[in-house]
Amino acid sequence: MKPIKRELGTCYYPEHWPDDIWKDDAQKMADLGLKWVRIGEFAWSRLEPRETEFCFEWLDRAVDILGKAGLSVVLGTPTAAPPTWVLKKYPDMLAVDSEGRRREFGSRRHYCFSHEGYREQCSIIVRKLAEHYGSNPYIEAWQTDNEYGCHDTTISYSSSALKSFQHWLAKVYGNDVNKLNEDWGNVFWSMEYQSYDEIRLPNLTVTEPNPSHALAFRRFTSSQVSSFNRIQTEIIREYSSAPIIHNFMGRITDFDHFEVGEDLDIASWDSYPLGFLLDRAGATEEEKFQFLRQGDPDFQAFHHDLYRSVGDGRWWVMEQQPGPVNWAPYNPEPLPGMIRLWTWEAFAHGAETVSYFRWRQVPFAQEQMHSGLLQPDSAPAPGYFEAKQIKEELVASPIISSGSSDVAIYFDYDSDAAWQVQPMGENLNYFQLVMDHYRAIRRLGLNVDFVHKKTKDFSRYKIISVVGAIHISSQLISRISSDKALVIFGPRTGAKVGNMKIPKKLPPNIDLVKSRIVRVETLPPNESLDIDPFGNAIRYIETLKLDSNASPYLKLKNGKVIATREGSGAIYLGAMVDRDGLIGFYQKLFEEIELDFVLMPDGVRRRCTENEEFWFNYNDKVIQTKIGDIQPADVIRLRLV
Ligand code: GAL
Repeated sequence: MKPIKRELGTCYYPEHWPDDIWKDDAQKMADLGLKWVRIGEFAWSRLEPRETEFCFEWLDRAVDILGKAGLSVVLGTPTAAPPTWVLKKYPDMLAVDSEGRRREFGSRRHYCFSHEGYREQCSIIVRKLAEHYGSNPYIEAWQTDNEYGCHDTTISYSSSALKSFQHWLAKVYGNDVNKLNEDWGNVFWSMEYQSYDEIRLPNLTVTEPNPSHALAFRRFTSSQVSSFNRIQTEIIREYSSAPIIHNFMGRITDFDHFEVGEDLDIASWDSYPLGFLLDRAGATEEEKFQFLRQGDPDFQAFHHDLYRSVGDGRWWVMEQQPGPVNWAPYNPEPLPGMIRLWTWEAFAHGAETVSYFRWRQVPFAQEQMHSGLLQPDSAPAPGYFEAKQIKEELVASPIISSGSSDVAIYFDYDSDAAWQVQPMGENLNYFQLVMDHYRAIRRLGLNVDFVHKKTKDFSRYKIISVVGAIHISSQLISRISSDKALVIFGPRTGAKVGNMKIPKKLPPNIDLVKSRIVRVETLPPNESLDIDPFGNAIRYIETLKLDSNASPYLKLKNGKVIATREGSGAIYLGAMVDRDGLIGFYQKLFEEIELDFVLMPDGVRRRCTENEEFWFNYNDKVIQTKIGDIQPADVIRLRLV
C-alpha cells in the first residue's frame, strides 16, 4: 500500500531576524526534514507601513530563500494585527467588550468583525498579497488571518456591531418588527419594539437580557466571522489555486466553525496541550497534577476529530507546542517524549501536517519566554530532537491507512451559543457535556467521528450521540436516524423551538422520543445522585414522564428514571452523568449492539487505522496494558494482520 502523506512544518517570522541568517535557517529546516513553513501572518506593519505604501521586497527574498531550500510556504494574511495607521484612519474599528470598554491597540486581534472600513482595508492588503504571490510556485498554501476568536475576540459590542445587528435582524424578520417581538416573547417585561433601530446589543442590561435577544446576537456574530473570512478566501481564489487554510483554536466555540470551514480547503488548529490542560480542558485539580507535563489525554484528540470534520477530512495542526509556552497559568516543560507523542497522535487521527510553533524562540516582546525548536541563540532546543526523531520514524515506517469509526457524536456550535445564553447553572456548558461523552467512548478504546448539520452520510455509523443539541430540526433528525444507527439523545436535545421557546407539547421536540420532560433541576458540583448500578447523575437532571411505548433504560437508586428506551428504539438520556456513569452507560450500549471495545487504562488512549493500532501513554509512569508495558510518553504502533 502507498504511504499516506504526513508532513512536518514550522512557523517562521523572517521579519524578526536579520536577513543574513534566513538562508541558514531555511537550510536547517530542510535538513530537519520539514516540508512546510508558515510566514507573514502578523507582518502588516512591514508589508504596508503606511497606507498604500506596499513593501513586499523583503518578503519576496524570504519566500525565495525558503522555496529554494526545498520548503513549501504557507502565506498568512496579516489581518489579525492591524498597524497604528489603520487605527488612525478608523478610530472606531476597535472591538468593544461586554462592559463597553474598547479593546486597545498594543497586542493583536483588536478589530471588530463588523467594521465596514476595516473589512475594506483587509480586502486591500489581501488583494495586493494575492496578486503579488498568487502564482509564486513556492506559495503552496494560504492561511487567512490568525485564530479567529482567540483572546475572546469574536463578540464585540461596538457601534458598528450594533448597526450591522439591526440590519441583520431586519433581514431575518422582514419589515414587520412585530414578528420579532412575537418570536422573542417581548410582551414579557414590556420589551416590545416599534422599530429595528430601537434594538440595542444585549450587554449592560440591568439583569439578564431576553435569551432570544442574546441568542440572535450570538448567531449574528457567528455569521460576521464567516463573512469576514469569506471576503479573504474569495479574493485569494481569484489569483491562486493553492489551498486555503485557517488555524482555529482549542475550545473556542463562539462562531460556527463548520460554516467557516465550507470556505476553506483545509481546516487546521493550534495545539498547546500543556496550556490547555490548565486553562480550558475542564480537567479536575487531580488531573491537572497527574498530566501537568503531558496534557489532557482527550483534549487534543477531541479537536483532531472535530477539525477533521470541519475540514471535511482534510486538516492540519498548524501550531504544535514545542516546549514550555508563556501564556498559561503555569508553563511547565513537557515530559521528554511528549512532543513526539502529540505529533504521532495527530497523524494517527489523520493530520496531513503537524507544524511546530515556532522555529526559534524570539528574544523580545510578548512571547520571548515561549520556546521554539531552536533556542534564541540558534542552538537546538529539546523539541528539535523530538521532531528529528519523528521525521526518521515517518521515513522508516510511514502511515499507510487512515481510521474510520462506528461511533459518531453530533457537534453544533449554535447549541453551544444557546447553552451560553441560558446555562441554568454555573459552569454548565455544551462543550463540557459533549467532551464528557467523548471521553467515555475513548476510554472504551473506540475511534470517534464528529458529525454536524451538513454531514452528508450518517449511514456508516452504528451509534450516533446527539446530546445537548438545544435546537435540532426534524429533517436533521430523520436524516440521522434514517439508517441503522442506534441514536442516543439528550440531555436538553430538542429542548427549545423557534428562537429559544419551550415547545408546546413540552420537550424534547424530537419525533423519535415520545416521553416528555416535565421539569428540570440543576445542582451544584458537590451534589450527585446514585445511578443503579454505576456512577452518578450530576449537575443537570430532567424529570421524564414516560410514553406508554417507552421503557426505563437507566434509573437512579431512588427509582427515578433518567434514561428511556423509546418505542422508536432511540435512547433518551435525561441527565448529565459523571465519568464512571458514562463509561457504564456506553459499555452497556456497546454490549447490546455487540460492538467490540477495550477498557483502556487511565491515561492510555488508542486510535485505530485499517492496518494499525496506535496506543498512547499520557502517564509519566510505565503502564501495563493488554498489549504489554508502555513506557511513559510512549507511542506503540501495533500492526494488524
Ligand atoms: C497561538 C498564536 C501564535 C502564538 C502562540 C503562542 O495562539 O496563533 O501566534 O501566539 O499562540 O503559544
